[in-house]
Amino acid sequence: RTCSILGAPVQTGASQPGCIMGPASLRTAGLLRTLADLGWEVTDLGDLSIGAQEPVTHANPAIHDLAETRAWIEALSEAAFNAAQTHDRPIFIGGDHALAAGTLSGIARHAATQARPLFVLWLDAHPDLHTLRTTTSGNLHGTPVAYVTGQPDFDAFPPLEASIDPANFCMMGIRSVDPAERERIAKIGMEVHDMRALDETGVLAPLRAFLARVRAANGLLHISFDVDFLDPEIAPAVGTTVPGGATFREAHLIMEELCDSELVTSLDLVELNPFLDERGRTAKLICDLTASLFGRRVLDRMTRSY
Ligand code: ARG
Ligand code: MN
Ligand code: MN
Ligand code: MN
Repeated sequence: RTCSILGAPVQTGASQPGCIMGPASLRTAGLLRTLADLGWEVTDLGDLSIGAQEPVTHANPAIHDLAETRAWIEALSEAAFNAAQTHDRPIFIGGDHALAAGTLSGIARHAATQARPLFVLWLDAHPDLHTLRTTTSGNLHGTPVAYVTGQPDFDAFPPLEASIDPANFCMMGIRSVDPAERERIAKIGMEVHDMRALDETGVLAPLRAFLARVRAANGLLHISFDVDFLDPEIAPAVGTTVPGGATFREAHLIMEELCDSELVTSLDLVELNPFLDERGRTAKLICDLTASLFGRRVLDRMTRSY
C-alpha cells in the first residue's frame, strides 16, 4: 500500500503566523518513518509553494491575504488531484485549514474520474462554513466547507470543477459556531455531531453509522483533521483553541475505528502551529494519531467486538 506526503505550509488563512512551520514540525516528529515502520510505501512529495501574488481586494473588507490563499487553493487542488491519482492514500500536512479548499476540490475531481461519491469526515472545533460574504474575522481558514460544497459568494476563489454533496459530510467535535454558520448548517442539513452529542452518544455510534453510509455507497473517504478538534490540554499548538475538545482516547478510538474500516482514502492534518507548541508534544500526538489511522495497534484483533 502506498501513501504520499505533501507539505502545504499555508498560513494566510489564519489570524496569526506559525502554521508555515507545520510540515517541518510533523516531519521532525517522525511522520514519514512512523508510516514506513507500519509497512506503508511512503513517497515524500516535498512542500508545495506559491510565488509572489499581486494583492487582490474584496467587497468584504475583513478578508486578508486573498490572493495568496487563492493561489494556495489553486496549486493544492491540482497537486491533490495528482496525488490521489497516483497513490492509495495521499496525506496533506499543513498549514492552516484553508488548504482543505484546495485538497478537497482536487480530491472531488479525482472521485469524479472514478465515478465514486466523495465523503468527508470533518474533525474540528469549527464547521468552517463561512462564505466570503459572511466571514467577519476575514480568516479564510473559516471558509473551506462552504466553498467545496458549492455555496454562493466564492467568485474570488478558483472556479469549482466538482463540488461535494453536503449530505456526504460528517462533522465531529464542533463547539464553536458563528451565527452565519449556524444558519447554513440548518439550511443545507449537514450532519454535525457537536461536543454535546458526543458526550451523549460517545464517538463510536455516530462514526459507525457514517462509515456504514460510506461503505454502502462505495464512496471515497477523506478525513480532514484540525488540531483544534483535540482538547487544548493535550494539543496546545493551535491558534484557535476551544476548551472541551476530544480526549486522547476518543481521538485514538476514532483513528483505530477508521483504520479497521479500510475506507479512508485521503487525509488532511491541519492547523498545527509549532510556534505555540510545548517541546513538540502536539506534533508527536498528531503523529501518533496518524499511526493509529495507518495501522498501529496495541494488540491485534482477530474479530470485531461488535
Ligand atoms: N469561525 C471562526 C472564524 O471564521 C473560526 C474559524 C476557525 N477555523 C479553523 N480552521 N481553525 O474566524
Ligand atoms: Mn478548521
Ligand atoms: Mn478549527
Ligand atoms: Mn478565526
